[in-house]
Amino acid sequence: MSKRLVQDLDDLRLQLADLKIHIPIEEDLAVLGQSVAIGQRRTPNALAVHPMEGADGERDGSPSELTFRRYRRFAAGGAGLLWTEAVAVVPEGRANPRQLYLHDENVDGFKQLVEEVKRTAREACGHEPLLIAQLTHSGRYSKPSGQPAPMIAYHNEYLDQASKLDQVEYTLASDAYLDGLIEAFRHAAKLARDDGFDGVDIKCCHGYLFAELLSAYHREGKYGGDYQGRTRLLREIVQKVHEDQGADFLVGVRLNLYDGLPQPWGWGATTDGEIDFAEPERLIKDLVQDGAAIFNATAGNPYYQPHINRPYTSGGYEPPEDRLVGIERLLHLSGKMQKAAGEIPVVGVGFSYLRAAAPYVAAAAVRDGSMRMAGFGRLSFANPNFAKDILERGKLEPSTVCTACSGCTKLMRAGQITGCIVRDPYYRDLYRSLVKQGLV
Ligand SMILES: Cc1cc2nc3c(=O)[nH]c(=O)nc-3n(C[C@H](O)[C@H](O)[C@H](O)COP(=O)(O)O)c2cc1C
Repeated sequence: MSKRLVQDLDDLRLQLADLKIHIPIEEDLAVLGQSVAIGQRRTPNALAVHPMEGADGERDGSPSELTFRRYRRFAAGGAGLLWTEAVAVVPEGRANPRQLYLHDENVDGFKQLVEEVKRTAREACGHEPLLIAQLTHSGRYSKPSGQPAPMIAYHNEYLDQASKLDQVEYTLASDAYLDGLIEAFRHAAKLARDDGFDGVDIKCCHGYLFAELLSAYHREGKYGGDYQGRTRLLREIVQKVHEDQGADFLVGVRLNLYDGLPQPWGWGATTDGEIDFAEPERLIKDLVQDGAAIFNATAGNPYYQPHINRPYTSGGYEPPEDRLVGIERLLHLSGKMQKAAGEIPVVGVGFSYLRAAAPYVAAAAVRDGSMRMAGFGRLSFANPNFAKDILERGKLEPSTVCTACSGCTKLMRAGQITGCIVRDPYYRDLYRSLVKQGLV
């Protein structure tokens, strides 16, 4: 499988021709500077920072000085939408002891974060981005004290083995427990609104609890089995938050569109493991009726098949396909989501791996309507200024792009705070010292 890096636009064109795959390209980037209507609000441009966990919160879940640093840098970078990293709403659902966790006792810390983001952006760019808080329950990947404490929706033939469920104590989430989460998410959404966020995301992706429920074909009771049962919890929370908070507060969903595992162990897939968009399409349309005002596209499980989730240059294993095939899949899924969502905007995914050629693919995707906004994950760690660079300088310098080296993930999996180990000296030095100590 080719590991050739994408050097620039010409090189991307050559590689696409070699592979005989189509990824759209537009050299005029103006469309990325256009404002996007989301519910009753508007973004200043069509570029978004995707959720990227820094694992640097305080023990009580409040944003720390490092969290403030990351979001200040995003704010000054000019993107029109900042979709925050995963924020837990119950302590047992934290993915690590430093995951952000919003609760009654720390609302002020989050409020300061929102105020600082908006002030920084106003001063640096003359506009404010929209801010969406991603609310989560980490389910199978919960590690609130640093040790695995999985809370699973059902036994999954593939994931149970990978999660080593035979070696750790785990909980099978009961219906009563899931019922209780409805109130927990409603309350967290209220706190987020009080803090000044423009909206919340009910995170439903990457193998975490709500995403796992979507493939809970073998779960008994009201939260499993047929389509209604498997989507019940997500839909009920979206409906309730929308009713509670009204139309001027955005309810969003970051939704897995394809798990990459065969049905009945994966969602959005045939029994052979190929993409089957029938249920994701139905759910997107239902969520629009339920009050969702924005979607964020994604796929795969970063703990099990990271190449589907974020094509990389080097990572845990050699992917079974060319990296650009993975990018094509993410763009294709984003486009299918936008089609199903109609007028409701979708933030698309699949750009960081494209390096300096990314803006031209993003511009084509927005221009041809296959997404309203282009979102960048790893690039925002490598170059938080990416939106300004694209909109004001008309390009990304090769020396500032993400190298898709998986260094940020390595830090996180080692239980450390995370950022870009190539472009950000703070994390580069941290990484080097951890390597010396044998900790990564
Ligand atoms: C270190 C790291 C942390 C991430 N944290 C989150 C997160 O908190 N929530 C989420 O939905 N996705 C998270 N993601 C996934 C990204 O948002 C994004 O979907 C993925 O990196 C692919 O986009 P990219 O190619 O632009 O990086 C994370 C990815 C990485 C590498």
